[in-house]
Amino acid sequence: MKLVLKNYNILIQNHLLNQLNLEIKKLYQHQDIFIITDENLYKIYHDTLKKELYDFHIHFVVIKPGEHSKSLKTYQEVVSKLIDLGMRRNHLMIAFGGGVVGDLAGFVAATLYRGVSFIQIPTSLLAMVDSSIGSKTGIDLDEGKNLVGAFYDPKVVFIDPIFLETLPEEEYKNGLAEVLKAGLIDDVSLFEYLKKYEKLTIDEIIKAIQVKQRIVTKDPFEKHERMYLNFGHTFGHAIEKHFQYAIKHGVAVSYGMLFSLEEGIKRGITKDKTLYDETKTILLRLGLINEPILDKKQFIKYLQFDKKHLADGLRFVFLEDKGNPIIQKGVVFND
Ligand SMILES: NC(=O)c1ccc[n+]([C@@H]2O[C@H](COP(=O)([O-])OP(=O)(O)OC[C@H]3O[C@@H](n4cnc5c(N)ncnc54)[C@H](O)[C@@H]3O)[C@@H](O)[C@H]2O)c1
Repeated sequence: MKLVLKNYNILIQNHLLNQLNLEIKKLYQHQDIFIITDENLYKIYHDTLKKELYDFHIHFVVIKPGEHSKSLKTYQEVVSKLIDLGMRRNHLMIAFGGGVVGDLAGFVAATLYRGVSFIQIPTSLLAMVDSSIGSKTGIDLDEGKNLVGAFYDPKVVFIDPIFLETLPEEEYKNGLAEVLKAGLIDDVSLFEYLKKYEKLTIDEIIKAIQVKQRIVTKDPFEKHERMYLNFGHTFGHAIEKHFQYAIKHGVAVSYGMLFSLEEGIKRGITKDKTLYDETKTILLRLGLINEPILDKKQFIKYLQFDKKHLADGLRFVFLEDKGNPIIQKGVVFND
């Protein structure tokens, strides 16, 4: 399956890995490839990548796994390492990993020598359905997540669900939160699917990617529709910050989606009053939330750092109904 986003392709197929060498040869003439990955993935896939990319000379830059690597410090280390290894402006970089590797390596690609070519090979479910799609790259600051970054297109995104076989269960669930979000804001069939199942087939992965592709195509630079993707993320980011990133993104977003539905119902915006309970039931079953549900009051003070907090106040995504998100400006939460 090939999807087109702006001027690059997203290739999605089981065992796509076996065609990697060929696909890269189509778009890259040189020999050296610089792969940014994390320690976990390096251990599992180092030999496989060397074997599959048999026509190329591979250099690895390996970072520590986890959100703490999306930092100015790691950015500086990666850039220095690439320069040390002899990376030039017309060499190719691959971001091989979850969203942390993708965001960090993408930002390195956007800025090193004012931009080098790079390919996204997402390996976590979250990275496949969300972070590798849509060209957002970036790092975190002490003040908040993703505060420094760039919109920067990869040459291509390669999605091979085979990598999910080694993904820890907890990380898989983390990605399911974004799939549920895609179901709530757009493709209701994904919401219905997750009422019954938790193991996705390639069809649901494609549907979730298509939600993001459709929205990003309409609004690449987040002037309006792209903010729909932020459903659950305003509180999600606040929760992550409160717990100093010791909580999974998907878990934080899950509570964030519930808080948005609860507020939407309270303010008369969310018409379908059963949506909160339906969503809560799915999230409990998937193990993404636990009872008692966190109290949202404790997170309100962090909302001021959200990127959607623009000059005219906080923009917040509510749902009028399943598949119908709405953005409200200047939203205030009272604790
Ligand atoms: N750019 C965007 O548009 C966008 C969108 C959503 C989220 N994000 C960002 O994505 C990040 C979260 O990404 P994530 O959830 O993928 O986290 P992650 O990159 O930290 O990966 C999670 C863990 O899974 C491991 N892992 C990944 N793939 C694996 C595999 N196939 N086999 C074994 N282990 C594997 C990693 O080593 C890591 O320990 C956050 O920083 C978030 O801000 C970015």
